[in-house]
Amino acid sequence: MEFKEKLSTYVQEIENAFETLLPAESTRPSRIHEAMRFSLSAGGKRIRPALVLAASELFGDSIKAIPAAVAVECLHTYSLIHDDLPSMDDSDLRRGRPTCHNQFDEATAVLAGDALLTYAFQLLSRHYSEPAETGLRLIQILSETAGSERLIGGQMEDILGEERSLSEDELDFIHLNKTSALIEASLEMGATIGGANHEQIEAVRSYGRCIGLGFQIVDDILDATSDSQTMGKTVGADAASNKSTYVSIHGLEKSREYATALAKEAYQICDELDAGFLKDLAMYLNLRTN
Ligand code: IPE
Ligand code: IPE
Ligand code: MG
Ligand code: MG
Ligand code: MG
Repeated sequence: MEFKEKLSTYVQEIENAFETLLPAESTRPSRIHEAMRFSLSAGGKRIRPALVLAASELFGDSIKAIPAAVAVECLHTYSLIHDDLPSMDDSDLRRGRPTCHNQFDEATAVLAGDALLTYAFQLLSRHYSEPAETGLRLIQILSETAGSERLIGGQMEDILGEERSLSEDELDFIHLNKTSALIEASLEMGATIGGANHEQIEAVRSYGRCIGLGFQIVDDILDATSDSQTMGKTVGADAASNKSTYVSIHGLEKSREYATALAKEAYQICDELDAGFLKDLAMYLNLRTN
């Protein structure tokens, strides 16, 4: 199957699973379930859940990984809802729609984020109880990733970077944690479900680190060079809020070079793993325009 066709098959499987795996909009209180579904079902690229499925399929099959893929997308969507809040990045547009706090209100957006975060772990504990070690490992990976030393830690330093210029080390910390952590975790969760051994898990994690770092560099490039309509989200805000990004510190040209070098490093790992889809995905993400 061609890369694009394979990616859209994964996306379809993930979006179909939202219907069956999430509480219906009519579930009481309907306002919270409407808000959760509003943000989740808007047009995301579904890169992280696709990575869960692809990594699982690399070592086993992808079907078993669908609830984990949905859990990862719930957690990612929560991070976007909170990232957009007036007290955070104060963004109006997300996934081609008003942000959750604009469509509903701030309190509902905070709660919808909280609920999606919690639901991710509900899904994992429900769908991976046999064998219990697998479920426990998945919960361990995702909770460590989402916590104060990784995703939240990266978000915290990102916010601190609005007030002062950050060092190279601080910038790496932000990229590795606010963005790369969940991308690496998606791959590790998929590989765990697929039955990968320790060495294979290490290899997919290294791949994830390359594409994860590259993903945020490209995001920063697009924030500086693209427009809101193409991106489906508020752009230009990094510069407006004096955020320290790879682009603000190193400039556009160096940022592009670094993203491409990381993609090449990812190709090499894919060659060793015989992972054609993941290789094409690394190329696609480096060249993405939204
Ligand atoms: C946006 O992630 C947040 C970043 C880490 C840059 P995506 O670009 O994957 O957003 P969606 O899921 O496609 O909306
Ligand atoms: C957010 O990074 C990463 C998250 C953990 C949500 P950004 O603030 O750069 O993401 P966008 O540009 O709003 O999507
Ligand atoms: Mg942010
Ligand atoms: Mg933001
Ligand atoms: Mg951004």
